Amino acid sequence: MKILVINGPNLNMLGIREPDHYGKETYSDLCEKIKKHCDSKNIEVVLYQSNHEGDLVDKIQETYGNTDGIVINPGAYTHTSVAILDAVKSVNIPTVEVHISKVYEREDFRQISYIRLACVKTITGHGTDGYLEAIDFLTEGR
Ligand code: DQA
Repeated sequence: MKILVINGPNLNMLGIREPDHYGKETYSDLCEKIKKHCDSKNIEVVLYQSNHEGDLVDKIQETYGNTDGIVINPGAYTHTSVAILDAVKSVNIPTVEVHISKVYEREDFRQISYIRLACVKTITGHGTDGYLEAIDFLTEGR
């Protein structure tokens, strides 16, 4: 079982950016937490973060034919990117959308999610535990 966990712009700034929304764990804490979780369940995991839309599209395309599931937090591209939506649709791999913050309690523009249209599940507002829940859903819960 192989999972790609993909994070979009500014998620490398976790622990520094808006801790009231995103908590105090850093991106490297998040990666460690995910790796530990996957190790304990014998899941192969690839972690990727980029601030660039095209790089995220490239990484999603690379999974074609070699990955069992995608966990994606596209950051602000959630609310704008048809290209990332189309990339996920192209590879046809079960994908879970994750948001650390309670986006449903935030600005109106954050209520729009393009990626959601290609996802089997959305997890919002569970902090970084949401990534682990998404991995469990893809590997056990479907
Ligand atoms: C986010 C929510 C987005 O609105 C925001 O642009 C992010 C992070 C979240 O994890 O809560 O960068 O996806």
